[in-house]
Amino acid sequence: MAKAIYDNIQEEVLALKRERRAVLVAHNYQIGEIQEAADFVGDSLNLARWARKSDAEVVVFCGVHFMAETASILSPEKKILVPDLEAGCSLADMIRPEDVRRWKIEHPRGVVVAYVNTSAVVKAEADYCCTSANAEKVVRAIPEDREIFFIPDFYLGSYVKAKTGRENLYLWRGYCPSHVLIQTEEIRRLRSEHPRAEFIMHPECGCLTKSIQFADQVLSTEGMIRYAKESPSEEFIVATETGVLYRMRKDNPSKRFYPASEQAHCNYMKMNTLEKVVESLENLQYEVRVPKEIAERALQPIERMIAIS
Ligand code: 13P
Repeated sequence: MAKAIYDNIQEEVLALKRERRAVLVAHNYQIGEIQEAADFVGDSLNLARWARKSDAEVVVFCGVHFMAETASILSPEKKILVPDLEAGCSLADMIRPEDVRRWKIEHPRGVVVAYVNTSAVVKAEADYCCTSANAEKVVRAIPEDREIFFIPDFYLGSYVKAKTGRENLYLWRGYCPSHVLIQTEEIRRLRSEHPRAEFIMHPECGCLTKSIQFADQVLSTEGMIRYAKESPSEEFIVATETGVLYRMRKDNPSKRFYPASEQAHCNYMKMNTLEKVVESLENLQYEVRVPKEIAERALQPIERMIAIS
């Protein structure tokens, strides 16, 4: 049978989604064309909530690997596809299950809080999961006398430790290589160039511990997008991966957004393209499935997080 001809790739994706009865979901850091083609765009917490509720049978997940794993853990009956299996997360790769097990042996009453940017095998060792949107709330829900091991993001963990004043919170020294490129000196320069701009930052930023004193808001990607819409300010300095600027600019055409660093670019997030989405829908590739025993254990910390937030 002759292959259908489409005027553009967006139309082709739309037709294939219908044919496959599939939905496309995307993280806020995805390229604009993917966000346009997506049925749902959000931060890690909303993507997890969405995966829980949706009745779609086939999901093309445009983000990075741990996000697709989380969706598969929450909805094992769905076929979760990723356009590129190589799209991983350097931060998630900075901790292994044996690192967590070692801490638990040394702290038998301790509680492990795993940022969602962890692999399924690491989540399987954790007690609670969290995202940037609810990390503080999750930590506050844990009894004061219990020691906490916060993994793997040092900066998000430091932020939560400062906000909660929790002395018995131990940090793993992982970091996001894109967020670590955002420098305090650059933020200072941008603030003096744009004195009326509000400065909004993601808690994964490597300069968080130094720049927090002048941050107007510390928010998840979705929180930033919402804040930019609701705030009466006309200008914003945005400290996170640059993909988030797409929706901010689209939602607020008259406002101005300055990236805190043009270099804060996640090569993994940008591995997904519409061409790969087409291939993914045509060939139903590449399926992400978490082994049942791991998925059952990893589900518990994710469920606890969703219940708290
Ligand atoms: P958000 O949950 O704020 O979208 O952040 C996700 C992420 O992976 C940041 O690196």
